[in-house]
Amino acid sequence: MAVLLNLLRAGVLLSLVPLAHPVSGQMPGRYDAIHTGTPWLDQRGLPVSAHGAGIIKDGDTYYLFGEAHQDMTNAFAGFNCYSSTDLVNWQFESVALPVQQSGPLGPETVGERPKVMRSPATGEYVMFMHADAIDYRGQFVGYATASTITGPYTFQGPLLFDGKPIRKWDMGTFQDKDGAGYVLLHGGDIYRLADDYRSVRAQVNEAMAHGFESPAMFRQGDTYYFLGSNLTGWERNDNYYFTATALEGPWTRQGFIAPEGTLTWNSQVTFVLPIEGTRETTYMFMGDRWSFPRQASAASYVWQPLIVDGGRLSMPHFRDAWRVDTRTGLVGSGPVAGATITADDPRVRFAGSWRQAAEGEPAHHVTVDKNAAFSVTFTGTQASLYSVARPDGGYAHVTLTDQQGAQVLSATIDMYSKYPVSSAKFVTPLLPPGTYTLNASVVGDGWYWVNKAGERSGSQGHAISFQRLEVRD
Ligand code: GLA
Repeated sequence: MAVLLNLLRAGVLLSLVPLAHPVSGQMPGRYDAIHTGTPWLDQRGLPVSAHGAGIIKDGDTYYLFGEAHQDMTNAFAGFNCYSSTDLVNWQFESVALPVQQSGPLGPETVGERPKVMRSPATGEYVMFMHADAIDYRGQFVGYATASTITGPYTFQGPLLFDGKPIRKWDMGTFQDKDGAGYVLLHGGDIYRLADDYRSVRAQVNEAMAHGFESPAMFRQGDTYYFLGSNLTGWERNDNYYFTATALEGPWTRQGFIAPEGTLTWNSQVTFVLPIEGTRETTYMFMGDRWSFPRQASAASYVWQPLIVDGGRLSMPHFRDAWRVDTRTGLVGSGPVAGATITADDPRVRFAGSWRQAAEGEPAHHVTVDKNAAFSVTFTGTQASLYSVARPDGGYAHVTLTDQQGAQVLSATIDMYSKYPVSSAKFVTPLLPPGTYTLNASVVGDGWYWVNKAGERSGSQGHAISFQRLEVRD
């Protein structure tokens, strides 16, 4: 009880309340593009909580499996399953693997990076994950099984190789064209699974790089692409990749996935989804933009189309919003705004103390005043809030209200980036045409993480900023 009271005093419990929800309990509209770095809301209007995710396609439906999260703690909160046919609107299906009563993946443990594959030999769905102690000192690769894709999955304990658990942390999976399943480990280890996917048959590659976390793989033609990150905890870095024509190697280190210095467009890879259409196969990069300790309400997703050509891959241009036709596989651009509302427009109202960006920075208004807020009134069907994420950036609480002042949506957004960059931070779904007001206020902190060596990373402050609002007619 004393702990509860202290938490209440510290305001901690406030953030356990779902922070993005429409008042009606239902989404006021749908999205029609893949947005990066903005809250995604499911059919209930709750934030999609599926990090360290993977996707498996069954029929015409894509199933997204990822880490459920709570705010303020890293403790395992289960693995969620969502479904979609357009890769844009995600329906919550189930907690595919809930927190276990005790032991590994029980209360106060760590569970990360769930990936599901279906064994062609048995038809069983097998989920692989990183299971660990809360202090990240008890790691192993675990697995769980289910006869239906959405579960519930039964946790089976450690995946065994030569009768022993694989004591590594970051992991991924890859299913080859012949149906063989593989588990990938940080550093670059690759294990081939037995036909039933319930144990390891052989190790086919040995670690080849220090770190190389969040391993992800896909194959185009006869080339295998092996992607991973550097070892910087929840902080983003320039992820890189290797290629080979056999999983046994030799693997050739190729370079960065995105332009150097963009820190993989502020993300860490988790999976690459081939979208096989009638005209084209598009390879979709899936990354996490982590935001500890508000992973549930403010961590976001960075999904971008990869350019794969001649043994090389790249993501040279960042797309705030884009589309992929899941039937043809073709990539298209996102919606076009009809109007832009900038800070000098009378429809933008600032409260508290704000200043204009310094020379040399992208133009924006910024505040560190803990009582500051802004609001923008717009008329249209969709609005995208652009801010400049900054090294001292923090959380903003956002609400959308209609003309009667009723709250339509709310969310928490994260305005941190290690380098100043303008990007969309909040996008409304497509709304009934009308006049709405977007409000944003300073929460008063930013994300941070202290690693095993005691080094702190993350934001140096709690600033929020406004650059412009783009509005669709
Ligand atoms: C890295 C890993 C994540 C998680 C964090 C914890 O980002 O890729 O899965 O373990 O570190 O610091």
